[in-house]
Amino acid sequence: MRTQVGIVGAGPAGLTLGRLLELAGIESVIVEARSREYCEARIRAGVLEQGAVDLLREAGVGERLEREGLVHHGISLQFDGERHRIPLSDLAGGRSIVIYGQTEVVKDLIAARLQSGLPLLFEAQEVSVHDLDSARPRIRFRHEGVEQELECDVVAGCDGFHGSCRASIPVGVLREFSREYPYGWLGILASVAPSIDELVYAHHERGFALLSLRSPTLSRYYLQCRPDENLDEWPDERIWEELHIRTGVEGWTLEEGPILEKGVTGMRSYVCEPMRYGRLFLAGDAAHIVPPTGAKGLNLAIHDVRTLAEALVRFYERGDESLLDAYSDACLRRIWRCEHFSWWMTTMLHLPPNADPFDLQLQRSQLRYVTTSQAQATALAENYVGLETV
Ligand code: FAD
Ligand code: DHB
Repeated sequence: MRTQVGIVGAGPAGLTLGRLLELAGIESVIVEARSREYCEARIRAGVLEQGAVDLLREAGVGERLEREGLVHHGISLQFDGERHRIPLSDLAGGRSIVIYGQTEVVKDLIAARLQSGLPLLFEAQEVSVHDLDSARPRIRFRHEGVEQELECDVVAGCDGFHGSCRASIPVGVLREFSREYPYGWLGILASVAPSIDELVYAHHERGFALLSLRSPTLSRYYLQCRPDENLDEWPDERIWEELHIRTGVEGWTLEEGPILEKGVTGMRSYVCEPMRYGRLFLAGDAAHIVPPTGAKGLNLAIHDVRTLAEALVRFYERGDESLLDAYSDACLRRIWRCEHFSWWMTTMLHLPPNADPFDLQLQRSQLRYVTTSQAQATALAENYVGLETV
């Protein structure tokens, strides 16, 4: 088999790249380890920046997003039992965010690719990449019991944080930066109308909590927990009880409903530089991870592949590799901005395991400052909705 761009991974990064290349008339094959059902059901992000929404719309996969996505113009920060609204759009030049599940983005992209009849191979086994420092890199895998070798001009490593592409780069090439946090998020999806109109990020002495949503009938709520928290210790009643305590404010009630899904996610920050080795280009979580507090991971993944697609178009149209050479640096500026923002939001809102009263007072002071100073609130807002230039 031969193609122009071999894409490893059918998450938001790989699927969006495939779509952008399709529109530019560049061939690709997407090779994915999991099943279609698994990819479409994996509940993760829910907040899209304006730039990501615009890109999906321009790529012709924004129809349902436009119909069902919920446009939000603000979020609230809660501390000391009070909510303080940050009017994102007023502070950030009219830009907004859209609430639309990553599951839905992935479903729309998969449907579009299959509709176009383009290769998207699910349940590929033993996926490995080879000859990355040559002009003919290869992807090997087994599909439906048959060993396959896909010869490409370029390989896009869009296989997430635990994928095999980054791990195939020889030792010593990458510079890695990382930070582990002593926090996890216990997330639930509940079949109940959200009790809030906009997202609420709540600081509490028992730990952080986040109130989010997916639709007018689906609520998505999170509780700070240990990264290795045992879900068996969290029957539904305990989750609701803890959500009531951490998010409670006078005159407001959190409505409960059947919990459809629950899971625990650990948190880390990670960046590798450069995001390239020879003809392998890493994009999305394969190259960087942020803690979820700033809602940046999915948005960064989409930004990476927009940059990579532009570079590949230049390469195929003019034989000019300059944008490919500039790809990593061009992405890393935004990535580091988001790394800082996500770290800042995380440290401002989460309770450190051995927090002393000094830590809590610093957090409260920071929160008070962000919610009373226009300059601080603007800094939060423009990062949250996504900076146009970095
Ligand atoms: P992934 O989505 O991880 O996709 C990688 C794909 O590659 C997967 O389908 C995987 O099965 C496949 N794969 C792996 N290994 C191989 C292999 N060897 N061969 C072939 N295929 C392989 N981000 C936001 O922007 N906003 C949010 O609100 C937000 N909230 C989040 C909440 C939670 C609880 C979590 C966990 C994450 C959240 N994120 C958020 C982050 C966001 O989900 C990720 O950044 C995003 O999924 C990255 O997309 P990706 O395509 O790079 O990687
Ligand atoms: C959601 C996830 C986030 O990480 C975040 O910051 C806001 C919302 C969500 O899943 O809805």
